[in-house]
Amino acid sequence: MTDATLSPSTSTAQAAIAADASSITIRRLGANEAAACAEALAEVLIDCVQGGASVSFMWPLPHDKALAFWCGVADGVARNERVLLVAEDAEGIIVGTVQLITAMPDNQPHRADVAKMLVHRKARRQGVAQRLMAAVDDAARDAGKTVLVLDTVTGGDAERLYERAGWQRVGVVPDYALMPDGAFCGTTFFCKRV
Ligand SMILES: CC(C)(COP(=O)(O)OP(=O)(O)OC[C@H]1O[C@@H](n2cnc3c(N)ncnc32)[C@H](O)[C@@H]1OP(=O)(O)O)[C@@H](O)C(=O)NCCC(=O)NCCS
Repeated sequence: MTDATLSPSTSTAQAAIAADASSITIRRLGANEAAACAEALAEVLIDCVQGGASVSFMWPLPHDKALAFWCGVADGVARNERVLLVAEDAEGIIVGTVQLITAMPDNQPHRADVAKMLVHRKARRQGVAQRLMAAVDDAARDAGKTVLVLDTVTGGDAERLYERAGWQRVGVVPDYALMPDGAFCGTTFFCKRV
């Protein structure tokens, strides 16, 4: 799909996300598509933070801040520093996303980080995240990466997701981050060989 064929992702459309996993498509966005999809990705991010996800942002998360984050991600895609994957429903509306950060120091060329696994609340519990994790493994192999690392809030839903996907729990750093409401939370680090 090219930039020109991307479906619009408006708030109205986002509100109409279908609860049908069979119609979900996972694909990798190029830099221009990433920039074009920043608005839709911002909606997913805002929904997740509003829902209490500890993913670098506090609540309330201003729309401009969320949009600026995704524009920065698009810049990173353009520089080949990260891979951006999205899950789209049958209408082409983005309902989930994850990133593979490939830009690493000179002594870690084989490593990548997985970050910002986000699924809109209206599309959860259908296996969207599981499919995104499988796709990120494939993207890592394509990029020649063999060691992956990620972190997530301790005790959150994502821990089960990562363990199901074959990730190894490394350990917990207490009080590593804040929840969107300001409460401290621990962070669990995971790694995986692909
Ligand atoms: C964590 C997160 C990404 C999971 O997304 P998801 O698409 O709902 O994940 P999945 O559908 O693959 O799995 C979620 C659950 O649904 C279940 N499930 C999957 N497909 C299902 C189906 N067809 N029917 C019923 N249940 C299903 C899974 O077994 C899993 O069960 P669990 O709660 O016992 O672990 C999502 O909750 C989210 O975005 N949270 C906020 C952001 C966040 O915390 N991200 C992690 C940052 S590191």
